[in-house]
Amino acid sequence: MKKVLSGIQPSGSLTLGNYIGAMKNFVKLQEEHQCYFMVVDLHAVTVPQEPASLREQSEAVAALFIAAGIDPARSNVYLQSHVPQHAELGWLMTTLTAMGELERMTQFKDKSSGKDTVGAGLFVYPALMAADILVYNADLVPVGEDQKQHLELTRDLAGRFNHRYGEFFTIPEPYIPKVGARIMSLDDGRKKMSKSNPNAGSYIALLDSPDVIRKKISRATTDSGREIVYDPANKPEVSNLMSIYSECSGLSLAEITERYEGQMYGGFKKDLAEVVVATLEPIQERYREIRSSGAITDILASGAERARAVASVTLAGVKDRMGFLPAR
Ligand code: AMP
Ligand code: TRP
Repeated sequence: MKKVLSGIQPSGSLTLGNYIGAMKNFVKLQEEHQCYFMVVDLHAVTVPQEPASLREQSEAVAALFIAAGIDPARSNVYLQSHVPQHAELGWLMTTLTAMGELERMTQFKDKSSGKDTVGAGLFVYPALMAADILVYNADLVPVGEDQKQHLELTRDLAGRFNHRYGEFFTIPEPYIPKVGARIMSLDDGRKKMSKSNPNAGSYIALLDSPDVIRKKISRATTDSGREIVYDPANKPEVSNLMSIYSECSGLSLAEITERYEGQMYGGFKKDLAEVVVATLEPIQERYREIRSSGAITDILASGAERARAVASVTLAGVKDRMGFLPAR
């Protein structure tokens, strides 16, 4: 049994990209491993958040975890801000991180480009993410492709700490799906599907109604030509729709190619919309039940309690090795 940890930011509605790239694997991994699934609210505030919407989104993301199939009795589901050890170890990790390492992070470059002012939190964010993972000595981190670089930095920081202060941290491995690690935008096959895209037609939100899903898929951009074949370099848009189809239906890319041989985009997109609706409808139904039951507060409280118990032991070990005097 391994320790698995991942987090999703409560900043805007989660998309089908979050589900396929990350959450679907959370559900799979909990079968065999000890899991920590966090709503990373401290990361969300690296860009300005309205307090009311941060509150709403934090609860919504936690409820979506459960609705997607995470069993809170088995896995720890909690908010990052309820486990103060993240922030404290995050600070210590910042002191081990070089400016140059942070300057190379592509997510920072993307999020800061064209902005007049950029918060320092956005810059040091990868050190906090490293702390998130290392504070539980996680072995496996299920994420989408875009987080690979942050994971590499986490591994470097863990190795650096171990080298300087003696073997202590587990070096975590990324767990990135083969298909679906980078679901692309519906209006541009070269851009990642993202909840922060101002065009809502570019992404499918997990809580979009069936009709909205049908409309968005029917309007999705498709490559010129008419063949339904998986060829990301030359047909990025159709290939992306095929990845979504495969991930939501369980059919392989080869099976999908065979099924739609000689057919037009229109029929394929219609079927795809139904496959996506069939995947999301049960999640939405459970989501509504969980939100109206009010059970989230207790789930988050017990998840955080178990997480703090583990995190506090790691943090005490780190502080001792670094030479901090104990409080008494
Ligand atoms: P975020 O929404 O940035 O907090 O991302 C949460 C998780 O979803 C991370 O593991 C991301 O790598 C993953 N993710 C976000 N967008 C996509 C996408 N378009 N395709 C695949 N995975 C994604
Ligand atoms: N940085 C991740 C993202 O933007 C979210 C995240 C924060 C995370 N801490 C984490 C993911 C720890 C995995 C493990 O998507």
